[in-house]
Amino acid sequence: MAHNKDYNKDMVVIIAAVAAVGGLLFGFDTGIISGAIPFLQQNFDLSNSMLENITTSALLGAVIGAMFTGRLTDILGRKRIILFTAIIFTIGALWSGAVTSPTELMAARFIVGLAIGISSFSVPLYISEISPADKRGQLVSLFQLLITIGILASYLTDLAFAKNDVVTSWRPMLYSGVIPGLLLFVGMIFLPETPRWLMSKGRRQEAEKILRRVEKPEKVEIALNEIQNELEKDKQKVKFSEIFRPWLRIPLMIAIVIMFFQQFVGINTVIYYSPKIFMIAGFDGARAAIWGSVSVGLVNVLFTILAIYLVDRWGRRKLYFVGLTGIVIALIALGLSFAFNSSLGQSGKWLTIVFTWIYIAFFAISIGPLGWLIISEVFPLRVRGVGTSIGSLSNWLFNGLVAFTFFKIVKLLTIPGTEIITQEKVYDPAAHNFVMQTINNGNPAGAFWLYAFIGIIGIIWGYFYLPETKGVSLEEIEEHWRKGGKPRELKPKQE
Ligand code: BGC
Repeated sequence: MAHNKDYNKDMVVIIAAVAAVGGLLFGFDTGIISGAIPFLQQNFDLSNSMLENITTSALLGAVIGAMFTGRLTDILGRKRIILFTAIIFTIGALWSGAVTSPTELMAARFIVGLAIGISSFSVPLYISEISPADKRGQLVSLFQLLITIGILASYLTDLAFAKNDVVTSWRPMLYSGVIPGLLLFVGMIFLPETPRWLMSKGRRQEAEKILRRVEKPEKVEIALNEIQNELEKDKQKVKFSEIFRPWLRIPLMIAIVIMFFQQFVGINTVIYYSPKIFMIAGFDGARAAIWGSVSVGLVNVLFTILAIYLVDRWGRRKLYFVGLTGIVIALIALGLSFAFNSSLGQSGKWLTIVFTWIYIAFFAISIGPLGWLIISEVFPLRVRGVGTSIGSLSNWLFNGLVAFTFFKIVKLLTIPGTEIITQEKVYDPAAHNFVMQTINNGNPAGAFWLYAFIGIIGIIWGYFYLPETKGVSLEEIEEHWRKGGKPRELKPKQE
């Protein structure tokens, strides 16, 4: 075979691994702020609402980043956008660590958020376009693995820098974001543009060269022709509104709704608030906060590794149903452990932590990685940048909504008489110190049952709308929508 020497199966793995560092950056930043918060409060005398503003400014940046850069990735290319993101992130991290006021911190966090928003869709997009069809699921799931490793790494970094008597401990925590930023930048310099984007710009020769490095030799021609065919089908300029064409309604709906379920099963209440949840369950403050988070982070990483193994073997649908069923059961159980918290005594808190592990494990093998994978697969090439960015934007919006409403829902759905009362260390700006306070936490059982209910609707939705994209080329997926095919009926040609 003439070009056999070019084919390098490790190349795909290297490409995906470096690109997935974008996931590391995303996860790292999701987690790092939780450890920085108490120190920020102490250093700047922050009120709770200012704290919320700082957290929300990053989220707002992410929404805006995801919203406005979809078209840019179609115009400038995937590689350039990822490089650009790495630079913004690095600058944002440096700035966050160096700020001198809370308002400045809000601005810096907004910049970091922008970078996270952009990377959260451009990285999976890059990976899915450069991977061969039979490995695409595994390689895009690497992104999720790096998110979870990033979260764990950030908890450990927080642990390493958190010194009770050093009020500026938050600075090294925030500075450390420079490391994933630089890693992504340097790695990406050496990586090629995706063949699919090059073809969309009429650069066939370059596209072919890259395809020869990642696809098996006999598949290169086929892949080139498939991409070409899809591009031929409509040649006019891509307009943003194209994504709203009738034949694209189904993939668009799938991308938004899968992110809705990914967030509304309550994942980030566990990621952001697990220390608090474990404290409410009865573990003693500081130690529980640290080890609870680390253990959840670890289970998340381990089960994401299992997902990578399973995703191109079991396929998307099977993982989705198994995962969501597990999530629903774990949430119901978690609710029960809280509802009967007072009568369970010591065993209650252990049940809580075990159910949380079960919950996170099922999330990690299913809708965690699947959300990002599906949004990178369902859109046709011409609108893929815009489409994935809408998926990602939905993710951030729903994420914000859940984070913002969690404690309010807890309060609203507390069954009278089951309130859990704790003693907590709270920062008192007037006294410039921490004081012990009695806190009525309500009871989160109702909130967890609400998420379980949403999970059940997610299972029913998935039955009708989740496509099995395992082993199907991106071009075949596009063809399926053009023919008006139902999501449930998508199948690989050669099976
Ligand atoms: C979600 C994040 C979440 C993470 C947890 C991701 O897929 O989008 O919101 O924090 O999984 O592992």
